[in-house]
Amino acid sequence: MLQKATELLQSLHQPHLIAHMQTLAPDLQKAFAAQISELDFSVLQAENAAEIRGTFAPLYATTLAEIEQNRALYTETGLAAIRAGKVGAVMLAGGQGTRLGFDKPKGTFNIGITRELYIFECLINNLLDVTKAAGAYVPLFIMTSIENNRDTREFFEAHDYFGYDRDSVWFFEQEQLPATDTAGRLMLAAPGRIATAPNGNGGWYVSMEKTGMLDVLHESGIEWLNVFAMDNVLQRIADPCFVGAVIASGKASGAKVVAKAAPEEKVGVLCLEDGRPSIVEYYEMTEEMISRREPDGTLSYNYGVILNYLFRVDKLDETLHVRLPLHRAFKKLRYMNEAGEIVKPESPNAYKFETLALDMVKLQENCLAYEVDRQREFAPIKNKDGVDSVDTARELLRRNGVVL
Ligand code: UTP
Repeated sequence: MLQKATELLQSLHQPHLIAHMQTLAPDLQKAFAAQISELDFSVLQAENAAEIRGTFAPLYATTLAEIEQNRALYTETGLAAIRAGKVGAVMLAGGQGTRLGFDKPKGTFNIGITRELYIFECLINNLLDVTKAAGAYVPLFIMTSIENNRDTREFFEAHDYFGYDRDSVWFFEQEQLPATDTAGRLMLAAPGRIATAPNGNGGWYVSMEKTGMLDVLHESGIEWLNVFAMDNVLQRIADPCFVGAVIASGKASGAKVVAKAAPEEKVGVLCLEDGRPSIVEYYEMTEEMISRREPDGTLSYNYGVILNYLFRVDKLDETLHVRLPLHRAFKKLRYMNEAGEIVKPESPNAYKFETLALDMVKLQENCLAYEVDRQREFAPIKNKDGVDSVDTARELLRRNGVVL
């Protein structure tokens, strides 16, 4: 086993880890070799996904005005699907939240001022609005990282699931991938332990399969999954009107989108790529794409995604074997330096490899772009201060009548 690990590290050009292995006591050496045999090192050779793109074209959204005209019908269709147990929700809560710089799971962050109000609590409150209207609980699958799984579960337990039905909640873990420093060298987390990070939010369906969640899905007859980011405290989950609109459209998927605040706004835009629904990142857009307008004056690439998608389960099953592109993200990662000290960096120091949920949209034949009002549905908490921070989210919550 040690020999095999050494050969592998040699072929990966990681001599510092071979040297490290030689300094370890036999039991740690064994554990190190075992971890090496399990990790997926193909990420080290992966091409950066951002570089390989097709031809983009605009994808038009169902606008707020159009939705308003059909609201009653869509809502009734969505509520009927929820009552029939056909709609589940998947909360993506495996991120490390490095920009917020909060040591515990981000969802356990208290954004209340005069009272306790946790990010997870905001989301459950939003979901409870729907379950009350439907008279039925929506099965909720919560994806955590290996690292934050226990804290997340314990937090939900300690708060009695914020009034949600605990039997309608499942937790599952996502996988980890090795991370590298800026020179492409694998890093250590501890003696005999390579530093790894969660593999991004794109692996959620594969992780659901690996952890047995698909059995739950299939046995309970869930046909639609609403997957969403946990860091948007105004996130509307299993929104009946959205669900109903996607069902009525006959499309295989749906994405909630918001109109851009300005042409240059830094958001990923829902569009077509080689005829399939796709998301173009703001830095991938040409000047022509950024400023292009439709005859009615609206931007052709106008609708930014907010990480709230609806997928058909049977269509997701067909995509299980597809390997999503890997993205390299430069983030902060705790590691062990050459002196054997654990370092908690103040600024980004490592490349993490992530697949992204937005790339799953491209695997679908089509996607309904469904416009929502950002003032009412988009309050992401990414940073400590400034844009998309605790302060901006608080302000938006207040405007939506939430007491802080
Ligand atoms: P972000 O892309 O903002 O990543 O996640 P992050 O790790 O939470 O935060 P930073 O970049 O380190 O500051 C968007 C959503 O995807 C989830 C997050 O929990 C959040 O809901 N996510 C992200 C996962 O579930 N797993 C991951 O590996 C990454």
